[in-house]
Amino acid sequence: MYSRIAGTGSYLPERVLSNADLEKTLDTNDEWIRTRTGIERRHIAAPGQTTVDLAEQAARRAIEAAGVSPSEIDFIAFGTTTPDLVFPNCGVLLQARLGVRGCPALAIETACTGFIYALSIADKFVRSGEAKCALVVGAETLSRITDYADRSTAILFGDGAGAVILRPSSEAGLLSTHLHADGEYRDLLYSRGGVSRGFVDPETGKPDIAIRMAGNEVFKIAVTKLGAAVDEALAANSLEKSAIDWLIPHQANIRIIQAMARRLDMPMERVILTIQEHGNTSAASVPMALDVGVRDGRIKRGDTLLLEAFGGGFTWGSALVRY
Ligand code: ACO
Repeated sequence: MYSRIAGTGSYLPERVLSNADLEKTLDTNDEWIRTRTGIERRHIAAPGQTTVDLAEQAARRAIEAAGVSPSEIDFIAFGTTTPDLVFPNCGVLLQARLGVRGCPALAIETACTGFIYALSIADKFVRSGEAKCALVVGAETLSRITDYADRSTAILFGDGAGAVILRPSSEAGLLSTHLHADGEYRDLLYSRGGVSRGFVDPETGKPDIAIRMAGNEVFKIAVTKLGAAVDEALAANSLEKSAIDWLIPHQANIRIIQAMARRLDMPMERVILTIQEHGNTSAASVPMALDVGVRDGRIKRGDTLLLEAFGGGFTWGSALVRY
């Protein structure tokens, strides 16, 4: 028994924040942002628009694409680092929006790897027969924890949501998922505030939950760890690099993505790139890129996909998927 992606969906909030917009308030420029990151614009949630608002739109599109009804959903796994509330978790909030009742609904907080973790967990429920129609979501409103006075992070992040429906299938399916974390790296990429630790910076006494990142060091470790996760996925399935039809990477930096494509001997034409339009949307980035590739017709049934992500923690992982 495998789990199989039956449908995908994504949603971007309307407001666009371009590099030119950022030039007006920050000591930065379009040329620097494009060449160092690949980002041209990112989408930002409207005031009052929450992570679950974005997720609901993406989920409804995935449900429609899968040809299922919300009442069939029997498991929800929701990756996010920017939840609406401390509790109920975003999975439960989304469940209520969709009018689903009674099924397990959980949120996974593993930063940019949130969707890969959620996918892996949902896959295990479907394979074991415990779930027959799992909704897997990655959604974020990172703009709410971005310090727009810090040019090293303000240029990177955006908001959005992506979702898939997983159903049981005797044909592959998700071939394997590979999850990792190493908390020794926590100081290189983190959000400063939390419920238990408090939302006030002890040094300044001011409220602060913003993302802090040692970008250059994160970059080097991301390339190494992602490279290992990609090799691990291929080895676990005894597949050669040439078997991969599409690379669907976490969209953090074009240069990290190019490094992964080189490692796989893949031309960039075989990589689904959304970073120029979406920026880094953390847990939402992989399912949104997947949905873009499916809806524009590049990704076809039977294609072999390699999904990978890396984020704060550090957490990282990959998934090998026969679409
Ligand atoms: N505009 C202009 N100049 C800038 C900007 C900016 N927005 N930001 C930094 N600079 C300057 C720096 O001050 C520095 O100047 P100096 O040489 O005079 O000191 C110079 O540019 C180079 O800075 P670096 O930080 O070395 O730039 P780098 O090439 O590493 O790019 C970036 C920075 C884009 C952040 C990159 O390191 C990166 O993408 N890192 C990985 C991010 C990532 O993968 N994160 C994981 C997922 S995110 C998550 O989990 C939430």
